[in-house]
Amino acid sequence: LRPVGIVGTGSCLPERILTNAELEQMVDTSDEWIRTRTGIRERRIADGNTAASDLAVPAAERALEAAGVTAKAVDLIIVATVTPDNLFPATACLVQERLGIKGAAAFDLSAGCSGFIYALGAAAQFIASGIYETALVIGVEVLSKIINWQDRSTCVLFGDGAGAVVLKAVNPGEGLLGLYLGADGGGASLLTLPAGGSRLPASPTTVAEGLHTIHMNGPEVFKFAVRVMGEASLKALAQAGLKKEDVDFLIPHQANMRIIEAATKRLGLSREKVYVNLDRYGNMSSASIPVALDEAYREGRLKPGDKIVLVAFGAGLTWGAAVLSW
Ligand code: ACO
Repeated sequence: LRPVGIVGTGSCLPERILTNAELEQMVDTSDEWIRTRTGIRERRIADGNTAASDLAVPAAERALEAAGVTAKAVDLIIVATVTPDNLFPATACLVQERLGIKGAAAFDLSAGCSGFIYALGAAAQFIASGIYETALVIGVEVLSKIINWQDRSTCVLFGDGAGAVVLKAVNPGEGLLGLYLGADGGGASLLTLPAGGSRLPASPTTVAEGLHTIHMNGPEVFKFAVRVMGEASLKALAQAGLKKEDVDFLIPHQANMRIIEAATKRLGLSREKVYVNLDRYGNMSSASIPVALDEAYREGRLKPGDKIVLVAFGAGLTWGAAVLSW
């Protein structure tokens, strides 16, 4: 198997900022509650006409430019999302067409907020095996379109955005060193979009009951997240033959500052080794990690050879961690 690494990153965030102060006008909440319970100050919200592919395409273009790779060289596109443009066709196919990448394999992957780690792992296998040379992996969400703006327990948490990476074969010892993915379907009902699929097709009743919006048991998801973030990171590190002392940088899923702090503590890391942008963007599900990775790289926080852990949890329930040598 060939070693596989990230050779370029890119991201795209909608311009519109929604502040906690604005949310105070919409639901019974306060800036103080949101900041202290979650760490979020503001989030980006796409306009009414913007769908997932509209954010995914510029993020992908920036990643390709950073990698010095032309769109034509891409032979695999995976889009991780729970807010695709349509249930079908896959958003990856729409991205492929708009980037002018004729013929490349393209599919979407649904693993909640762990989607990017799952997609990274899946794409890496195709390159490691020699089936493909260049993969584009995108995490994108327009969660604002599936939020119940009357539900204060969820509407304060989420935001919109896209992040992308380009994967290629790299030198031995570089790139993806460890990967650990897991799922527990027993927790499926804890975080779900109940209607719009084949279980509860769209009908006037499902619309009236708000079943096309995010339904979440926050406290249960919180407990699960705290447990699994540290565990998954340690499993991926073990697979890479590394210990927690070897970690130079942690990029955790950006859902809640208290969850990030618990993972940081479990791994014995100091605060400067952990990337946080949820204060500015909230939880962007599949997009959180690739956007954070792109920002950390562009800010010069990642040095060649750094051992980086990416770790996420999400709907499914799912979890995943990846260890990279940058
Ligand atoms: N403003 C003010 N009060 C609120 C708000 C709000 N926005 N939301 C909830 N409350 C109230 C509740 O009603 C409750 O009041 P009560 O005690 O009178 O009943 C009180 O605050 C405490 O509520 P809890 O839900 O127990 O608060 P908690 O500390 O657990 O925080 C939170 C809630 C932030 C949702 C937390 O549980 C959490 O972050 N969970 C994880 C969620 C998550 O990460 N989801 C994404 C998973 S990834 C994916 O795939 C999308």
